[in-house]
Amino acid sequence: KVDQSVVLAGVKMKNPVVVASGTFGFGREYGQFYNLNELGGICCKGLTLHRREGNPSPRIAETPMGILNSVGLQNPGVDAFIAEELPELRTHDLAIIANISGNTPEEYGIMCEKLSAAGVDMIEVNISCPNVKAGGLAYGTKPELAAEVTRMAKAHSTVPVMVKLSPNVTDITEIARAVADAGADALSLINTLRGMRIDVNTHRPILKMNTGGLSGPAVLPVAVRMVWEVANAVDLPILGMGGVAKGADAAQLMLAGASAVAVGTACFADPYAPVKVRDELAALAEMQGISKVSDFTGAVKPW
Ligand code: DOR
Repeated sequence: KVDQSVVLAGVKMKNPVVVASGTFGFGREYGQFYNLNELGGICCKGLTLHRREGNPSPRIAETPMGILNSVGLQNPGVDAFIAEELPELRTHDLAIIANISGNTPEEYGIMCEKLSAAGVDMIEVNISCPNVKAGGLAYGTKPELAAEVTRMAKAHSTVPVMVKLSPNVTDITEIARAVADAGADALSLINTLRGMRIDVNTHRPILKMNTGGLSGPAVLPVAVRMVWEVANAVDLPILGMGGVAKGADAAQLMLAGASAVAVGTACFADPYAPVKVRDELAALAEMQGISKVSDFTGAVKPW
């Protein structure tokens, strides 16, 4: 029997599969017909200090190889999450990771204080939402700002701080290094890749915001490359994500250097995709005579 347990920045998880932020809400809709205890953890839908309606619709566009979204951080606000969602989530046995976005570094600090006092296991600091102005890519594409937000989060958090990086940069290792030097406990990558789709009948963009973030199978090779580059550049644990739908996809991200993986877009087609990924990853390990799935981490061989 393969040992599936992993540790991500000191947080123990019974398996390496978590659901990616924005794809599982706060677990409530799924929780009715789904045993959340099957998961290693849940990254909750991105929170902001105050509730947000998000961007105007249409804000989702399907493509043959993934989904474009311009949701714009629709969420009930951090206080409503703590009061109405967290108590139920905490009855389950899985790592609870709160994803946060702020308009200013100070807002990240306030949210970290509230969420760590409320008992989440980890905070995912989102500096990479492609669909909002303040708090989005502004922080995730400039090393000094990424570092400032990270320092603020660390100063106000009593739980591990994981910073979520953007693929919409020329050199992701530059941002990773800045965030690592600023004290991050872990990194998660990748957020969505900026894209666009045009309706050839109306000649209009499909999305009201024109552009959105691409997720799904199209971005897996980008994610594998970026996890590999970051793992070679900094000494921090990595939560890898981007287009994972099968055990072998998760294995690629782990071989590249991820300690755990998140399944996102695949949940829309099949809510059990994370469980399938978990089981297929364990089966792959068993077939290859690997006794712990954590042995995949960083085990890619040089040519
Ligand atoms: O693609 C994304 N969409 N990434 C984020 O970080 C946030 C989300 C949204 O709400 O727009």
